[in-house]
Amino acid sequence: MAENAKHLLLVDDEAALREAIAERLADHGFIVEQAASGEDAMARLAEFAFDIIVTDMRLPGVDGRAVLEAALERYPEIIAIIITGFGTVKDAVNAIKQGAADFITKPFQFDALLHVLTSALEQRRLRSENAYLRSQLDDRYRIDGLVGRSRVMRDLAQLLETVAATSSTVLITGETGTGKELAARAIHHGSPRRANRFVAINCSAIPETLLEAELFGHVRGAFTGAVGTRQGRLEQAHKGTLFLDEVGTMSPALQSKLLRVLQEREFERVGDAHTIKIDVRVIAATHSDLGKMVADGTFREDLFYRLNVIPVQLPSLRERRDDIPLLVQHFLEKLGAEQVPRRHVTMSQDALRRLMAYPWPGNVRQLENVVERALAFSHGRTQIDVADLGPDIQNVPASPGDGNTWFPDEGMDLERYIEGVELTLIKRSLERTQGNKVQAARLLNLKRTTLIEKLKRLERGQPGVA
Ligand SMILES: Nc1ncnc2c1ncn2[C@@H]1O[C@H](COP(=O)(O)OP(=O)(O)OP(=O)(O)O)[C@@H](O)[C@H]1O
Ligand SMILES: [Mg+2]
Repeated sequence: MAENAKHLLLVDDEAALREAIAERLADHGFIVEQAASGEDAMARLAEFAFDIIVTDMRLPGVDGRAVLEAALERYPEIIAIIITGFGTVKDAVNAIKQGAADFITKPFQFDALLHVLTSALEQRRLRSENAYLRSQLDDRYRIDGLVGRSRVMRDLAQLLETVAATSSTVLITGETGTGKELAARAIHHGSPRRANRFVAINCSAIPETLLEAELFGHVRGAFTGAVGTRQGRLEQAHKGTLFLDEVGTMSPALQSKLLRVLQEREFERVGDAHTIKIDVRVIAATHSDLGKMVADGTFREDLFYRLNVIPVQLPSLRERRDDIPLLVQHFLEKLGAEQVPRRHVTMSQDALRRLMAYPWPGNVRQLENVVERALAFSHGRTQIDVADLGPDIQNVPASPGDGNTWFPDEGMDLERYIEGVELTLIKRSLERTQGNKVQAARLLNLKRTTLIEKLKRLERGQPGVA
């Protein structure tokens, strides 16, 4: 069976004709299931997401129009082809209005049906290709947007690329603002599922009582207020990727329903007995320690293992301080370009050092906010300075030597750098002591004479003996 063979449901009550068409369709590579009645068709549609449905309009009992309606409601992306009797063009027109892709009039040659099918498929392919190109354009920024050249980020990029090629479930962990959602999108857009949807649902943002219906959908009257039948996010993600954000906040009841989806790839809409089969890739994310929650008994162990097939751990910004200059530049370009008139602003080295010394509890998101604020505070200037950074960051000493000191890609002049740091610290100690050299020397654990010598030498800018 070809990898992308299409699943087709053929609905007709004339057994001989149906059998003959089914056989020839199978010869052309379609995977065909047959339904002899409207009821039969409905039951099969409830269980399986067919790519194509070909149905006669005139059926005993539940007629073709109802089958078509059910098919399109459940699977908005299904390709529906209608078979109509001679002289019933009005039916065909109505069917097209309803969302059918095309129609064919009885009696017909098999080749005519094949032609209608192939052109509908081609149209669909072009449409999703356009959608893909569009989504690529929209999202290119975001994929390329995973900025970072540090060791950990290079390893991460490689891992994401490998993971994208598979359909395995992924569990992304990391502190707030580290780019978990960005990573999930990168996986989807790097995957063979990229032409289909990336559907995100934040489990902590939706009240528990509504989350189930949001995820699985519901039928009319399933609960108070359920006026119509609605597809859940899971169904919307069919053939694509479902991103379950903050999965750690799910209730135990929902956890077991999710487990079933992961194990059996099937579920029911709320209030419905029909089982729906689904082809979806699940990416979950959490900033909580699920392993610990399993130990505490607040998260199902079996679900944890089903989710944690491929663990992806995003590093905190503290662990990759060497990416901060690059990220700052990235945000300055992005935010500067959004301003009218467009601004080209740089960050002073001193400001950059503060940014690199700051512990960043809110990670990249916080950095982006700080850059945005600084840009606003820098008014018309072309350079952002320490004073434009918020008080939290201004108050962090730009101390080197903590093992996380920035090392520029292009290399550096070590002696000059050290001298610069020495001079800054000596000046700052003098500021703090209102110029009292004895006290300043004491703060720096130096002899007074050494401090004076150093200061003279450094202010002359002479590289020399220490
Ligand atoms: N590596 C990165 N390069 C560029 N931008 C990034 C990077 N990581 C995160 N961002 C940006 O930081 C912000 C937060 O990212 P995202 O929403 O993916 O984080 P998160 O881990 O899902 O956070 P939370 O746990 O709070 O939901 C976004 O604006 C995102 O574009
Ligand atoms: Mg997030």
